[in-house]
Amino acid sequence: MKYDFAVGQTNPETFPVEAFKRAAIQAIEDEHASFNQYPGGKGHPQLRALMAQRESEREGVRVDPEMMALTNGSMQGVTLVGQALMDAPGDQVITEAFTYSGTIAAYKGIGLDMVGIPVDESGMRMDHLEAHLRSMKKKPKFIYALTAYQNPTGVNLSLERRHRLIELAAEYEIPVVEDNCYGDVHFDGDKPPALYALSDDAHHIYLCSLSKIFAPGVRLGYVLARRPYFEKIVGRRFDAGSNTFAAAVMAKFYGENLWTHCEAANVALKRKRDLLVSRLKDVLEDECVWSHPTGGLFLWLRLPEDTDLDRLRTEATNKGFNYAEGRDFHETGERVPYIRLAFGHVPDDAIVEGIPVLAQCVQRARSSNAPRDFTSLFDD
Ligand SMILES: Cc1ncc(COP(=O)(O)O)c(C=O)c1O
Repeated sequence: MKYDFAVGQTNPETFPVEAFKRAAIQAIEDEHASFNQYPGGKGHPQLRALMAQRESEREGVRVDPEMMALTNGSMQGVTLVGQALMDAPGDQVITEAFTYSGTIAAYKGIGLDMVGIPVDESGMRMDHLEAHLRSMKKKPKFIYALTAYQNPTGVNLSLERRHRLIELAAEYEIPVVEDNCYGDVHFDGDKPPALYALSDDAHHIYLCSLSKIFAPGVRLGYVLARRPYFEKIVGRRFDAGSNTFAAAVMAKFYGENLWTHCEAANVALKRKRDLLVSRLKDVLEDECVWSHPTGGLFLWLRLPEDTDLDRLRTEATNKGFNYAEGRDFHETGERVPYIRLAFGHVPDDAIVEGIPVLAQCVQRARSSNAPRDFTSLFDD
């Protein structure tokens, strides 16, 4: 597709080819003997130490590399914690009502029932969560929360709501799995610390990834947890550990400088976010409302109620424009009038040219040309 805003990949333009080549050569020279061994449950010690330092510097808490396990992307962490925390198919997990499609597939795949809590511009609605917990018939096994630059909506869970979530989790003794895989992809404004940094309660489990700030092809993420959950989660893995070669190269790469690449990548991603928002303002302000992500790779766009979603897909495909449909992120697959625009890997000129194409498609897929009759991204 000429204008591909569908998939949440990071920016190929900032891939650090030369530095990564140097890191690979160094890793092979220095560590080839260890490639001959199985890595075990936690994985490459130097990469864990570097990731622990990175988490400490970003989130403001001491992180123990001995309570961290490297995983095959954060997706393996998502699945492992689900398996570790559930007892039997039919157990419940609470998520945001819009959440990552891969998590929906994984949790449904292992037999969890999902309960979606509405979100707004400040993340998961704590009033709805509280109402659900007060009236629940069955205690959920855990809460899965996308706290920063939420996929798909791009919103952050506010500091006030983070504290409330911590309180509710403690009151009801429900573990919280915080998937912070976009944590490094930060553009502007303040980002509250992770739940994991705000509470040292054992109920908090934390996932992160190198896919979003570096590249998904390295397939490296990690899980942080406290006793007894850490052992329980690592005990669910039967894959003999994560790729030592990839971990060794990443450790050499980050060992040279922990933040240089992150900062450079975010400058380019911020530019793409700004271009996208400014083009939307030029061509869709009367029809649509969208999120203003301060990080991450996604913008969430609300369409007018009279948009024929099938027609929009056909019009867009004919014009070479691709996007992700709102229903892919809905826990029940409901047809909702939203689309997700992933901007991280889209060339700047394709953003500038592509958004007016999307606007034409929206206009053609509508049954009227009346201005939108909503002012905010989410209904109450
Ligand atoms: C919220 C969230 N969690 C996990 C993942 C999985 O990513 P990976 O396994 O590459 O770290 C994604 C990817 O899009 C995601 O958006």
